[in-house]
Amino acid sequence: MQEQIKNIKTLDELAALYASVFGKNGTMTVRLKGMRDLDNDARAELNRENATLRELFKVRQTELENAALMEKLSGQKLDATLNPMPENRGTLHPLTQCLREISAILESFGYKCHTGPEIEDDWHNFTALNTPAYHPARDMQDTFFLPNGNVMRTQTSAIQIRAMEESGAPIKIFGIGATYRKEMDATHSPMFHQIEGLYVDKNITLTDLIGDVRAFLKQFFQMDDIELRIRPSYFPFTEPSIEIDMKWQGNKWLEIMGAGMVHPNVLRNCNINPDVYQGFAFGFGWDRLAMLKYNLNDIREFYNGDVRWLCGAGF
Ligand code: DAH
Repeated sequence: MQEQIKNIKTLDELAALYASVFGKNGTMTVRLKGMRDLDNDARAELNRENATLRELFKVRQTELENAALMEKLSGQKLDATLNPMPENRGTLHPLTQCLREISAILESFGYKCHTGPEIEDDWHNFTALNTPAYHPARDMQDTFFLPNGNVMRTQTSAIQIRAMEESGAPIKIFGIGATYRKEMDATHSPMFHQIEGLYVDKNITLTDLIGDVRAFLKQFFQMDDIELRIRPSYFPFTEPSIEIDMKWQGNKWLEIMGAGMVHPNVLRNCNINPDVYQGFAFGFGWDRLAMLKYNLNDIREFYNGDVRWLCGAGF
């Protein structure tokens, strides 16, 4: 029997032989049926024979299946010169790339990165920033209020307060994060991102601020020189307050950021003595900077979920 199984050449023949042994009236089936008439030794012998035979069939079946597969593969040709399927690698979203660039530049200037909660209390988002409840400047921002009196953070300036409360002065940090306001058009999204800079120490002046901002913008936009315009402005948390514009493509002035010297009330609110320390702060929309860099007209494109943002195709 053993020889017979080994000599079988096809799976069909093997199946036929198997049926003649283990089928309904197969030789082994019949012998197994008569098992009860055998003595113990003969039974053990029959069981062994049965197991061995089954194993032999299994081994031969695997051999024949492998041989059939090899046969099939040898008929197929592999063309190693064929172009591979295009590979779509994911990339970082442009806003994330921009954030990393901005952070790397500010860190190289000695600013430490800080974050804070997106749901803020009134103190950090407004009051400590010299904007108490009655202050008309609260209307400058269309705020999302939560039922418990907290707000969706309207400005990363809240991070300034948290950082100063935590570490006092001197301090040199930048805050990053999402901010929220009830506005929506081509240049406004209800959720957007801001970066905030804060440098408080002894003898800090507006000139230091302008120097850092100029160096930052030159690096970010990779420009040799940059023309800035400083306009007086108003923010409750800075005195004096300024807005900084940048000359863009030779002819346009673009408003880039708000800034100023940190208001003494703000320092006091964070237990810093304004007679000893002073400093500057600045804040800008990082989506806006990314729009300029990528030449986009509509901020909402960053958030519309188009996968081309993530597969390196860009727009
Ligand atoms: N928080 C301001 C805004 O969202 C931007 C800003 C202005 C931040 C002046 C500052 C600053 O730190 O000094 O409009």
